[in-house]
Amino acid sequence: MDTKRTTLPLSLINSPILLFLFVHLPPSSLLSFPPFPARRSSITEMASHIVGYPRMGPKRELKFALEAFWDGKSSAEELQKVAADLRSSIWKQMFSAGIKYIPSNTFSYYDQVLDTTAMLGAVPDRYGWNGGEIGFDVFFSMARGNASSPAMEMTKWFDTNYHYIVPELGPDVKFSYASHKAVNEYQEAKALGIDTVPVLVGPVTYLLLSKPSKGVDKTFDLLSLLDKVLPIYKEVISELKAAGASSIQLDEPTLVLDLDSTKLKAFTDAYASLESSFSGLNVIVETYFADVPAEAYNVLTSLSGVSGFGFDLVRGSKTMDLIKAGFPKDKHLFAGVVDGRNIWANDLAASLTTLSALEGIVGKDNLVVSTSCSLMHTAVDLVNETKLDEELKSWLAFAAQKVVEVNALSKALAGQKDEAFFSANAAALASRKSSPRVTNQAVQKAAAALKGSDHRRATNVTARLDAQQKMLNLPILPTTTIGSFPQTVELRRVRREYKAKKISEDEYVNSIKEEINKVVKLQEELDIDVLVHGEPERNDMVEYFGEQLSGFAFTVNGWVQSYGSRCVKPPIIYGDVSRPKAMTVFWSSMAQSMTSRPMKGMLTGPVTILNWSFVRNDQPRFETCYQIALAIKDEVEDLEKAGINVIQIDEAALREGLPLRKSEQAFYLEWAVHSFRITNVGVKDTTQIHTHMCYSHFNDIIHSIIDMDADVITIENSRSDEKLLSVFREGVKYGAGIGPGVYDIHSPRIPTADEIADRVDKMLAVLEKNILWVNPDCGLKTRKYPEVKPALSNMVEAAKVLRTKLGSA
Ligand SMILES: *[C@@H]1O[C@H](CO)[C@@H](O)[C@H](O)[C@H]1NC(C)=O
Ligand SMILES: *[C@@H]1O[C@H](CO)[C@@H](O)[C@H](O)[C@H]1NC(C)=O
Ligand SMILES: *[C@@H]1O[C@H](CO)[C@@H](O)[C@H](O)[C@H]1NC(C)=O
Ligand SMILES: *[C@@H]1O[C@H](CO)[C@@H](O)[C@H](O)[C@H]1NC(C)=O
Repeated sequence: MDTKRTTLPLSLINSPILLFLFVHLPPSSLLSFPPFPARRSSITEMASHIVGYPRMGPKRELKFALEAFWDGKSSAEELQKVAADLRSSIWKQMFSAGIKYIPSNTFSYYDQVLDTTAMLGAVPDRYGWNGGEIGFDVFFSMARGNASSPAMEMTKWFDTNYHYIVPELGPDVKFSYASHKAVNEYQEAKALGIDTVPVLVGPVTYLLLSKPSKGVDKTFDLLSLLDKVLPIYKEVISELKAAGASSIQLDEPTLVLDLDSTKLKAFTDAYASLESSFSGLNVIVETYFADVPAEAYNVLTSLSGVSGFGFDLVRGSKTMDLIKAGFPKDKHLFAGVVDGRNIWANDLAASLTTLSALEGIVGKDNLVVSTSCSLMHTAVDLVNETKLDEELKSWLAFAAQKVVEVNALSKALAGQKDEAFFSANAAALASRKSSPRVTNQAVQKAAAALKGSDHRRATNVTARLDAQQKMLNLPILPTTTIGSFPQTVELRRVRREYKAKKISEDEYVNSIKEEINKVVKLQEELDIDVLVHGEPERNDMVEYFGEQLSGFAFTVNGWVQSYGSRCVKPPIIYGDVSRPKAMTVFWSSMAQSMTSRPMKGMLTGPVTILNWSFVRNDQPRFETCYQIALAIKDEVEDLEKAGINVIQIDEAALREGLPLRKSEQAFYLEWAVHSFRITNVGVKDTTQIHTHMCYSHFNDIIHSIIDMDADVITIENSRSDEKLLSVFREGVKYGAGIGPGVYDIHSPRIPTADEIADRVDKMLAVLEKNILWVNPDCGLKTRKYPEVKPALSNMVEAAKVLRTKLGSA
């Protein structure tokens, strides 16, 4: 790679004249003195690199532009203008920060994997594409579906909360070069005077993330398409070269997974085939999200024609050892020391130590400072965060600040340490470490006491269910709902105005109370057995609790792309978590007082609160999780004291949090399940603990789910009866209550009573009648009352019909 300086020769810098000028001129004249070309303000080459950057913009500009376009409220040109402005400001920002390897083509109107599908012309037949450059209509039809064809499937991007569009491939796909986006963006940046590194999803990763299209055998070998895909990559690469690109980056993050040797060989073959088109180019192969397993490391570092390798040194705990054991001579190491997955300021001194160690191994000229992965997994810019105080802000770095950190590290490595910047960073880190806002000795002690011990309710689930039944006296096939009821415009207005102090607390409480009363009366009319209060006071499952717990902070614009135009704004857990006062008891006991039927207390579980937040990096995840578990435990016990006998603790994200690598999964499940049990270990046998899971594919973790030891589990099951029931058919012993969702709340369709009864009947073939519950598959907050009322009425009717049938059988 060309690491020659493009600016000023060192000899001139050391010249006495220049030195004199620096020393003796007052700062103001230094400003007007133009010693260097504008391109670089430093004297030594800065080897700095950014893997990728958020696309949405600091205020989600892209989201709003996309949605306006989709709604027909703005033109394609208007959307393209917003996009071009965002790209240009991002490039300029990295350029002026001094970054050497600035990425392009990391922008996307939807998703970078879908961009690759477009580049390869791999459009599924149902979208009626007839060749030619792929435009917005075909592109967005693939992403979102249209009236005639459903969207392509979306799934999680590794272990992040980003979701990509899964390519659908088969033996008959005719690949062709159908989107010139990478070249266009390279040229666009070049026109601004910025030479960028075009980024492509690597060919092997692309195929490994695909699935066989409909009608194609499930066992179809996707890697067999490599020979058809590579010619397109060659075309793209040669066009990039012709446009003037001197470096390209191929992202091959699948190298961090547990791959077998056949899959690894595909990398060797693919890059051998691409080698000739690589000539004259610096080719960086980038990995991220974990360390590369040893075997894959050998394959990676032997790839033909590649001049640099990128590693995640934040999550890749073993990468350092691999590099020490051997790194190819004269190749570049892109050292991802700045965390792209979190919002914390880098420990610059520690990173510098790591980098110096690496420099000792690979040599000064071969080391490039980088981010651990694309910065799209963190928030965009801290600069206008008005809700965070200055102290807290000094502990944080969003994408824009991380770019500056990367640059500061590379300058320091080149002997140009910005002492002021480094000492400000050290001071911020020290203040975080010693801050009483972060450390709460009592919480630390309580959480430490949990480690190594087990927490289980004293009585087994069968005996508990008996005790609960004596108290609750429920019919067989009891009916319930998952928690929320429709959230009306009026409710949102009330919450908003209360938050903005436009209405008084009394007014607010009265409005919410009225709503709860309405929901309670409705459920009584419908004759539901176990009621909920409907959650009108809650905006969100995690934020609602985070706002009442200590140790949490909230941003105004800390958005992270989840998929397409959708973003999430995770709370920041910065300190030891405790619960200053009860969070839900007021509303739950008010709701219970309105009915003689059991009212469920509704809580979010510790694993879900942890997983949907930006988490501390100064203690292990499980420690933070145990702290949250203790706070929820207090709440559970307060609810019980207030006379709530059924308490649901949602763990929507338990499976979601599963680590990428199999070797780490057992440890995770152990502490995650333990955390859940901690929340309810202290309740009486007669208190019934429910939990809810938003997914049905849990066959692989069923034993952990059973180990949670809840009394009743309700599960999303709308589209996959068979998958869920097969676990139990295979003989897994299960004694607790279970409520597989009997209808899909994600669809506005109203299921008939017969249809619901049919589904419950199918479940009864596999599960005992005395453990089965009847409920929808998720909360109802996204639905409208005209859908919810008849659907629930049919659900209750189905349960009653079956009870009669079972009773007379
Ligand atoms: C759906 O998208 C395809 C591909 O763009 C197009 O041919 C078709 O007309 C679209 N259908 C509707 C109803 O918009
Ligand atoms: C929860 O954690 C997992 C694993 O890190 C991740 O895949 C998932 O996206 C997280 N969920 C959210 C909402 O961040
Ligand atoms: C921050 O706010 C200032 C003043 O409103 C504005 O000019 C600037 O563009 C904002 N920066 C970002 C990154 O939002
Ligand atoms: C559960 O506990 C009860 C009462 O303590 C006991 O009789 C029963 O055998 C236990 N069942 C199992 C499966 O351990």
